[in-house]
Amino acid sequence: EGFAKELEQEASGFDLKANVVDFEDFDPDVFRKHKVVVVVVATYGEGDPTDNAVEFFRWLKDEDLEPDAFSGLQFTVMGLGNRQYVNFNSCGKQANEFLEKKGGTRIYDLGLGDDDQNIEEDFEQWKDNGLWPALRKACGKMFDQADGSPTGGLPTAEDAVAALPLRVKLSADAKGLPVDPLVQVGGADILGKWYFQAHQSAVVVERELRQVPDAPAGKSTKHLDFDVKSIPAIDWRTADNLEVLPSNPENIVEWFAKRLGAHTELDSSLAFVRAEGVERPVKKPFPAPCTVREALSLYCDLCQAPTRSAAKKLAPFIRDEKDRAAFVSLVEDRPAYQWLTGEGVRLNFQELFEFFFASAEIDLGTFLQLCPRQKNRPYTIASSSREDKKKIGICVSIVAEKLQPLSAVAADLAAKGYSAPGAAACLERLGQKAQDSRSFRGVCSQMLCSKVAVGDKLWINARPSTFRLPRKSTTPIIMVGAGTGIAPFRGFVREFTAEAGLRKKTTLIFGCTKSTEDFLYKDELDAALKGDPKILSELVTAFSREQKDKVYVQHKVRDRGADIAQQVKDGAYIYVCGAVAMGAAIRDELNLALGGGDCVGRLQAEGRFVEELW
Ligand SMILES: Cc1cc2nc3c(=O)[nH]c(=O)nc-3n(C[C@H](O)[C@H](O)[C@H](O)COP(=O)(O)OP(=O)(O)OC[C@H]3O[C@@H](n4cnc5c(N)ncnc54)[C@H](O)[C@@H]3O)c2cc1C
Ligand SMILES: Cc1cc2nc3c(=O)[nH]c(=O)nc-3n(C[C@H](O)[C@H](O)[C@H](O)COP(=O)(O)O)c2cc1C
Repeated sequence: EGFAKELEQEASGFDLKANVVDFEDFDPDVFRKHKVVVVVVATYGEGDPTDNAVEFFRWLKDEDLEPDAFSGLQFTVMGLGNRQYVNFNSCGKQANEFLEKKGGTRIYDLGLGDDDQNIEEDFEQWKDNGLWPALRKACGKMFDQADGSPTGGLPTAEDAVAALPLRVKLSADAKGLPVDPLVQVGGADILGKWYFQAHQSAVVVERELRQVPDAPAGKSTKHLDFDVKSIPAIDWRTADNLEVLPSNPENIVEWFAKRLGAHTELDSSLAFVRAEGVERPVKKPFPAPCTVREALSLYCDLCQAPTRSAAKKLAPFIRDEKDRAAFVSLVEDRPAYQWLTGEGVRLNFQELFEFFFASAEIDLGTFLQLCPRQKNRPYTIASSSREDKKKIGICVSIVAEKLQPLSAVAADLAAKGYSAPGAAACLERLGQKAQDSRSFRGVCSQMLCSKVAVGDKLWINARPSTFRLPRKSTTPIIMVGAGTGIAPFRGFVREFTAEAGLRKKTTLIFGCTKSTEDFLYKDELDAALKGDPKILSELVTAFSREQKDKVYVQHKVRDRGADIAQQVKDGAYIYVCGAVAMGAAIRDELNLALGGGDCVGRLQAEGRFVEELW
């Protein structure tokens, strides 16, 4: 949706008129009448469209649709997917194929965004390879700008504010806020919609799962149970996903509030009203009235540096012309911005602000509309709905990474020829600390593992996953997971317990570093092995650091190749969960064990191989 909106905004700079239509509101007759359509479509599940696009694809592939249904329609497609999935971008590919098959004219090549690498870059590249000239030609306009950049350039800060549909009103008391009946609930985009549909739920169990945790060093794995008994709207099953909305750390919220001149207003309430001259109804970007603190903590991504397109939207507010030009040139240099915000460097939003926005003047209401929205994070449910439908459990590890010292980042920036006008002041403020490596902590995982306590309420929602147990109890079940990849299998083991040991053969292959340090759910797994009848037939462990050479789950899969092949012959279902790299290694080993070629792909097509990787 963000990509589609970006195209809509850029179109006017190329003297084109565009409007974004949500697939949910798609109308076959209107669709066909368009001169040019740019389809931006994601792939989810196992090569499936998102919920809002299901109807569109049903219609597109309907055999009764006339062979020339799209004659006169010019189109191009940008698919959003992830190469880790077998059905990479299948929806984008299908849209591309069927629109042409039924008479449409492709005016520009299919784009395939890969979320495993850098989907934003893929999108930018797809655009830059000639999308706008192709669209202008399709609309009967000449393309006369050799460099392909829009006529508009960067708007002034005043124009950027004027283009925003909403204004923010503050009041010490929510009752004193104005109510604009045309400012509607529901959310302006996908994340906005999520906020409106989420539920508040209390944590009822919080348990460290490591034998030797060290949270300050980033080593903590927690099991958390959420109370959902009073939320009937949450419908979930074992090993589905629980989406959790993180809250930004307080010091970051306070820093931004101060920078926006709103630190004395943190506990004031805010409401949205339409900007002057806006007569149409406008959706709220997030639930309001709320306090300024809530808006900055829950609905703004204040930790990660903004994407290039979001950064460009903030750039006009840098008042100093030289500073602004320096920042824009950095943002336009894709590899440089990628380096600055990627692995190992990862300048965060606050650091970015300090380095480049020293002269920026931006008010709270504008910032709240231009700042990227906070994303919910999915966690594989680690509990059984059969055992207890009223409690949802998850298993979370802190995401930690060591980053370059800020002094080194500033030096590298200078060496690359980029000036960071606020860097010197920032380094001076930090003193000796600027020379030390920085510790990156994931926002949601850090919050869940280090801050959340029993009784705390968080915003959550559940969504289905592809993990489903075989119906027949005689079907063998093979589960492979490392680290928090054990989550769905803890859920399965609880499910087997609730089924009273009905399953005939269940094997869990689990990996971690040491049996004495991070053997998650050891007590429960031991109990499941001892039960009568046995809940878990076999537990195979790979402790990577207990011998000279590393041993991982894929090595255990290799060792047991013949046994696994026999179980597959007997109809086994295989489930894999955990890190993406682990998933790839398991797939390779399974293919070897099962006789080469893409045996796993065939099992997957039958629904007998299911993976969830992150
Ligand atoms: C379908 C699905 C199921 C998931 N299930 C679980 C689960 O059961 N348990 C669990 O702990 N996590 C799970 N995750 C991952 C989880 O959603 C979050 O991505 C993770 O907790 C990090 O979020 P964060 O807010 O802490 O990090 P953020 O603040 O969002 O930072 C993440 C950044 O750190 C980098 N990074 C480095 N290492 C990692 C890593 N190991 N994981 C993610 N990002 C990393 C990324 O490049 C990214 O830029 C799942 C993800 C998906 C897509
Ligand atoms: C549960 C799940 C299933 C997915 N299945 C596929 C898939 O089958 N094929 C694919 O190419 N990408 C798949 N993806 C990746 C998404 O398509 C990718 O993350 C994309 O960026 C989503 O775009 P969006 O963020 O605009 O929704 C999947 C992602 C998730 C979380």
